[in-house]
Amino acid sequence: MITVNLSGKTIILGVGGSISAYKSADLCSKLVQAGANVYPILTRAALKFVGAPTFWGLAANPVSTDTFDEPFGTREIAHLRYAEIADIFVIAPASADVLSRLAAGAADDMLSAALLARTTEPVLICPAMNTDMWAHPATQRNRAILEGYGYTFLEPGVGRLAEGVVGAGRLPEPTEIVEAIRVILFPPGDLGGLHVLVTAGGTQEPIDPVRFIGNRSSGKMGYAIAVEAARRGATVTLVSAPVSLTAPADVELVSVQTAGEMADAVIPRAAVADIVVQAAAVADFRPVQIAADKLKKRDGVSVIELKETLDIAAVVGKHKRPGQTLVGFAAETTDVLANAQEKLTAKNLDLLVANDVSEPGSGFGTDTNRVTFLRPGAEPEPLPQLPKSEVARELWNRVVKLRTGA
Ligand SMILES: Cc1cc2nc3c(=O)[nH]c(=O)nc-3n(C[C@H](O)[C@H](O)[C@H](O)COP(=O)(O)O)c2cc1C
Repeated sequence: MITVNLSGKTIILGVGGSISAYKSADLCSKLVQAGANVYPILTRAALKFVGAPTFWGLAANPVSTDTFDEPFGTREIAHLRYAEIADIFVIAPASADVLSRLAAGAADDMLSAALLARTTEPVLICPAMNTDMWAHPATQRNRAILEGYGYTFLEPGVGRLAEGVVGAGRLPEPTEIVEAIRVILFPPGDLGGLHVLVTAGGTQEPIDPVRFIGNRSSGKMGYAIAVEAARRGATVTLVSAPVSLTAPADVELVSVQTAGEMADAVIPRAAVADIVVQAAAVADFRPVQIAADKLKKRDGVSVIELKETLDIAAVVGKHKRPGQTLVGFAAETTDVLANAQEKLTAKNLDLLVANDVSEPGSGFGTDTNRVTFLRPGAEPEPLPQLPKSEVARELWNRVVKLRTGA
């Protein structure tokens, strides 16, 4: 399960005078658990329903109410400081009275003064009130004014209200509010909702317990592709052969060593992925025998017998599902385009990234790459030498275009 991560985000949590203010304590706790730095501001009416210690106890930050409070000491003017540090203002619950004060441009308490001092979005308003109060033209006019400022409203839930009637006006559940905050702070990119599988690195085929047959792949290209996919909203699984790179954040990392392990990790995952990008350099051959003990120089080894490994890209290509997008890489040293074209067809790929790894500044180990994109039935598209992060961006731009038909 991927949990909400709000670390590094500062949230000003405004609490209005509603019975549902007790739910705001749970919201505060959930935001803190998600890693956010939360500053609660309670209105005077909110203090009739819940206590300030509940909120400073949960947030581990001072709570303020009055514009003349000094939550940051006397050297800081608090309402200006709140406006400055907030990544987002969340008002939950927002009472009818809070909406009216904000719409009127009032600054008669800490919450309204801080919001008046804030000229940028985002502000998330979660109203909670009696159905008739919510439906009243005055409240709806206030809502329209605030939406005009760019504030986002989370629609109040329909259900049984405190006064016993069923109608619109319930504060949305804290989990829904946390999700709304996440979507505002991290808007889904053009790969949102898609499961992406990326392979990276060079496999190692053991000869004995200390030696292996490997290749020069650093994994930098595959890692850049995984990072960019996660940044654009995809759920990413990265199957990585040994590399000296740090595991990217927000990516599920599966570490493998050999071509056989790579096949076991990739084939079942590819069956359920929306997009598969195979950037790993997988050994085509492996030693038939792996010596149990380290081979000794004095014993001599004249021949290492090799056996072909499973062609993972061919298997994945054969089982391609409708709507699935397959991307491959071809690292060549001769006849780059001809070999790449052949691979594109043979592996049933939608996009192939060809590069001449013998060229300086391109291919293994470098931070840059000079690639040519190939698509079935289209002219090859050569790109200039670019940092690998930019090649990753160009790759995803093309995949998105392919999938949306744009
Ligand atoms: C028991 C009780 C429950 C209330 N619940 C709500 C409510 O859910 N929503 C609301 O807008 N006002 C509610 N009110 C009225 C507000 O508390 C009142 O309008 C107050 O001035 C709001 O202050 P604030 O703007 O500082 O939140 C309630 C009042 C009482 C006595």
